[in-house]
Amino acid sequence: EGGAVKVVVTGAAGQIGYSILPMICSGHMLGANTHIDLGLLDIPQCEEALRGVVMELQDCSYPLITQIRHGSDPREILRDADIIIFLGGFPRKAGMERKELLQRNCNIFKEQGAALNEVGKQTTLCLVVANPANTNCLILSHFAPNIPRKNFSAMTRLDHNRSMHQIAARAGVHSSAVKNVIIWGNHSSTQYPDVNHGTVNGHPIKQTLNDDAWLHGEFITTVQRRGAAIIEARKLSSAMSAAKAAVDHVRTWVQGTPEGEHVSMAVLSDGSYGIDEGLCYSYPVTCANKEWHVVQGLHIDEFSREKMELTKRELIEERDEALS
Ligand code: NAI
Repeated sequence: EGGAVKVVVTGAAGQIGYSILPMICSGHMLGANTHIDLGLLDIPQCEEALRGVVMELQDCSYPLITQIRHGSDPREILRDADIIIFLGGFPRKAGMERKELLQRNCNIFKEQGAALNEVGKQTTLCLVVANPANTNCLILSHFAPNIPRKNFSAMTRLDHNRSMHQIAARAGVHSSAVKNVIIWGNHSSTQYPDVNHGTVNGHPIKQTLNDDAWLHGEFITTVQRRGAAIIEARKLSSAMSAAKAAVDHVRTWVQGTPEGEHVSMAVLSDGSYGIDEGLCYSYPVTCANKEWHVVQGLHIDEFSREKMELTKRELIEERDEALS
């Protein structure tokens, strides 16, 4: 068992924070035997709301929680963290240009990267959820050069889970029967959900569904637009499912993938599949010993290649804007 694992959540006073903290504290992320020293970060304007969240966590008296620290100074809260989940970001306001959103979040991740560089460890694992997640992750690592690049990832697990549900519903099976779907690229509407290598109850998805028109059309757009559909229905962006996906992401990273299975994670590219090195691009990965490995050698057909290039181009644009 060893000592408590230091888990930090930024943007902890927000929506996803309120959904993810009970899951983390109940042991869904790191297991029922792992004690957790919790650090919660938010901005000064939300410090009072954060205090309220801390009071509620105290009142839950979770057996696994050894300590709760909270505050608005990244240098203090991120210090010596083992795992950091970055939920904190500037939300998109009505009428706001994408470019402005990018710029504002870029500044946040630049500041937090610099803090992480000073107070992080060689083993600190970082998951960026806050949007634009891939580019925020790239900026974070750029400003934290002391931390290995392998320790940074952005979340596309929600898109991955959404794809599993769409396939399962179409096939009339439970989601757990669906394996090895892939999200390529950006966590945005250009993402490419790819089922060419996936299975339903061990049989290829393509053959099982036998409906390429749906797989190449409505399936892809439904997954790409699922976030927008939830905002439209709930008047708030997805939080419960985002929290669940973040917990899935970290659990897989730390505990590993089962034999023969892979998940989707946006990571700093090593050039695999013709993607520019250093771009934060979502890939199929396996995990073992707290390390991810891009699944190699998958056959990419022309349809897929085109979609993978499109989302790559968007990420290059975002990177160039963010770093300029
Ligand atoms: P929210 O607006 O409810 O909460 C965000 C929290 O971050 C707020 O408490 C805010 O004060 C805090 N914050 C802002 N700037 C900060 C800073 N510099 N340091 C620390 N905290 C800061 O948003 P919600 O719904 O919890 O979503 C969080 C983020 O996750 C958003 O960027 C959202 O777009 C993104 N998201 C990403 C998904 C993905 O699949 N990658 C899915 C769903 C949401």
